[in-house]
Amino acid sequence: MNGRRECLEEKVESIEREHKNFVKRKFDRIVERYDLVNFIGSLGQDVFWRKKVALALKKAPLPILDLCCGPFTLSLAILKERLSSIFALDLSFQMLLYGKSKLSKKEKEVIYPLCADAETLPFRSEAFGTLSIAFGLRNLPNKERALKEFYRVLKPGGILAILEFSLPKNFFFKKIYLLYLSKYLPFLGGVLTKDKEAYQYLAESIQKFPPPEKLKQMLLEVEFKKVLYEPLTFGIVTFYLATK
Ligand SMILES: C[S@@+](CC[C@H](N)C(=O)[O-])C[C@H]1O[C@@H](n2cnc3c(N)ncnc32)[C@H](O)[C@@H]1O
Repeated sequence: MNGRRECLEEKVESIEREHKNFVKRKFDRIVERYDLVNFIGSLGQDVFWRKKVALALKKAPLPILDLCCGPFTLSLAILKERLSSIFALDLSFQMLLYGKSKLSKKEKEVIYPLCADAETLPFRSEAFGTLSIAFGLRNLPNKERALKEFYRVLKPGGILAILEFSLPKNFFFKKIYLLYLSKYLPFLGGVLTKDKEAYQYLAESIQKFPPPEKLKQMLLEVEFKKVLYEPLTFGIVTFYLATK
C-alpha cells in the first residue's frame, strides 16, 4: 500500500516538474514582448490592475517579496507608490535578465532579483512582511503547496496580495470573453511573440484556475485570515488580500 502511494506521489511530482519546465520554456521565449502583449491584450487595463495592488500595499509591512515577478512589472508599480527594497523572484532566468536590463540605476539598487521556484521558497520562515503575486499563481501546478509556502515565509500579521485572472459572472460577457481568450489573444500573442502556444496555454490556464470563492476557501484552509477579494474590469481579473 505504501509502495503504491510512493509510486503515485513520484508520478505526481514528475508531472508537476514537467509542467514547471513547460511554463519556464514558454516564458523564456516570450520575454521581450511580454509587457507589450500584456498591454495590448488587456487594452491598457493591466496598468490599472497593478496600480490597485500597489496602492493597497502602500503601507504594508516590510520586507516585500514579489513572486513570479516576470520583468518586475508589479515590483516597479509598487516602487512607484512607496520607497522600499523589493525582493523579486521568478523561475525564468531570462525574464529576470530582461527585466534587469530595463531598470534604471536607482531601481537596480532597490530591486533584488532571485531565480527560484515559488513553490519551494529559499527563505527561512517568517522572513517577509508582505508577499505579492500578479498573474503567477495560475502557473503553479500545486496551488495548495504554494499557498502553504507563502504562509510559512510571512511574518504573523503579514499580508499576501494576489492578482489573478478570473471569468466574468455575466453570461453574455463571459461568452464574448471566452471567444477573445481562445481566438484573439493566441492570434495576437502569436503574431507578436511567434509563440501562439504560450497564449493558448494562457487561455486554458485561466479557465482552469479556481473561481474567487474557491480560492478564498483555499486561503482560509491554509489559515490565512481576513480574506477579501474584489473583481476588477467586469471580473476578468480578481484582486485578493489575505492576512497571516
Ligand atoms: C504572467 S507572468 C507575471 C509577471 C508579473 N508578475 C506581472 O505582473 O506581469 C508569470 C511569471 O511567473 C513565472 N513563473 C512560472 N512558474 C513559476 C514558478 N514555479 N516559480 C516562480 N516563478 C514562476 C514565469 O516565469 C513568469 O515570469
